[in-house]
Amino acid sequence: MKASDVPCPEWLQQRLEKNGNRVPFSTFMDWALHDPVHGAYGAGQLRVGKDGDFVTSPSLGEDFSALLIHQLSDWLGCLAARHPDSLLSVVDVGPGEGDLIAQLITLFQASASDLLSRLEFVLVEINPGMQVRQRNRLQGLATAQCRWCSLAELASEPVNGVMLAHELLDALPVERLILSNGALQRQMVALQTSGGLSSLVWAEDALPEPLKVQISVQAERDDLQLPPDGAQDGWATEWHHSLKPWMQQAHAALADGMLLVVDYALEASRYYSSRRPDGTLLAYRRQQASSDVLRDPGDQDITAHLCVEAMLGEASVAGWIPEGHCRQGEALLALGLAERLNALQQLPGDQLAEALRRREALLRLVDPSCLGELRWFSFHRNPPEASAEGLHPSRFLREPS
Ligand SMILES: C[S@@+](CC[C@H](N)C(=O)[O-])C[C@H]1O[C@@H](n2cnc3c(N)ncnc32)[C@H](O)[C@@H]1O
Repeated sequence: MKASDVPCPEWLQQRLEKNGNRVPFSTFMDWALHDPVHGAYGAGQLRVGKDGDFVTSPSLGEDFSALLIHQLSDWLGCLAARHPDSLLSVVDVGPGEGDLIAQLITLFQASASDLLSRLEFVLVEINPGMQVRQRNRLQGLATAQCRWCSLAELASEPVNGVMLAHELLDALPVERLILSNGALQRQMVALQTSGGLSSLVWAEDALPEPLKVQISVQAERDDLQLPPDGAQDGWATEWHHSLKPWMQQAHAALADGMLLVVDYALEASRYYSSRRPDGTLLAYRRQQASSDVLRDPGDQDITAHLCVEAMLGEASVAGWIPEGHCRQGEALLALGLAERLNALQQLPGDQLAEALRRREALLRLVDPSCLGELRWFSFHRNPPEASAEGLHPSRFLREPS
C-alpha cells in the first residue's frame, strides 16, 4: 500500500478532528464510500459501467442476466411449488445502477410471464444517492412490482425467494491489519497538519480486545494462519469484521430460498500469504485501478477481496447452508455461455456491430484477468430437499452438458 501523504478534503478534516485526528481504516472506508453527502456511493458520485468508474458483469449488457435467469428460474420454480400461495421475492442487495434488476424484469416479462406474476423485486440499497439512480433506471418498468427496503425491514417480515449479493461484499468496510514488531496492529488513518496544509497518513494502533478475540476465534475455526509463516514486518492484510453481521441480517431477511454471492475472493492460503505482503485493497476511478486508497476520499471506489474460508465460516455460523462455489467462467458455461456465443454467429449481417459488441462482452465476463476472476457461492436458507434420486446441485454448479 502506498505510504499515502495526500491532501485531506475539508469535510474529512473536520470529521477527523472530531475523532481525535485518527480513525481505524474501516471508519475511513465507511465515510469515503457511504457518507450521504460526501461518500462515493452515499452521494451517488460513482458510476458503474463502461463510461463510468468501473464495470460489473450486468453493466456490460443483458447477456449476463440472460444466463443468470436460468438459475434463478430453477430456484424460483422450486420455491413456487413449495409455497404455492406465497409471493416470491428477488432481492438484490447493493443494486448499483439497477442494471441487474432492470434486465431481469425485462427477461422475465419476455420469457416467464407466468412466474413474473408471482414475483416482486426488492432493492436493498443503503446509499440515498444510488437509490435515486436506481429509481430513474427502473422508471420505465412500472408494470413489475418493485420496492426498496433495508435488510432490517425485510427481517420484520421475511420473504421467500432468492437473494443476490453481486459485487456487494467487497464494498463492505474492512479493517486493515499490519505486522509490526512481530505483532498484528490495526492500521489507522491519521490527520497530519504541517505549514497550514492537512494531509492523510497511515498510522498504527494496538488491536482492540474485541477485534483481537474475533481474529483468534475465527482463525482457529476456519484454519487461517494469521500472520502467515514468513511474513515480515510491514506485511499487511484486510479483515472483514462486518461479514458476520451482514450474513446474520441477510439470513433473518429470508424465510426460505437461496442466497447467491458473486464476488472477488481468494482461498486463505493465497489471501493470508507472506507472498501477498500488501493485501487486496484497491481503489477504482474512471476505469483505473490504484493502490492509493487514501487519495481523493469520496471520489473513488475502494474494494477488498473476500477470504473464501472466512466468508463460508461466517455464513455457516449465521445459519446459511453452503451449497458450493465456482469461478464465474464455470458458472456461465454451465448456464449456456457457449450456446449464446454460437447463437451470435447466426445473427443477420445487418446486426454485425451488435454481434461483435455482445461477443466482446461475453468474453469479458469470463476473462480470467478481469470479471472471470469472480466467484459464485450459493447458500440454502433451509436444509435442501432431496428428490427420489438424491440431492441435485444447482445448475450453475453442474458440468456443462
Ligand atoms: C460495486 S457496486 C455493485 C453494483 C451492482 N451489484 C452491480 O454488480 O452492478 C456496490 C453497490 O452496493 C451498495 N452498497 C454498499 N454497501 C451496502 C450495504 N451494506 N447494503 C446495501 N447496499 C450497499 C452501493 O451503494 C452500490 O450500489
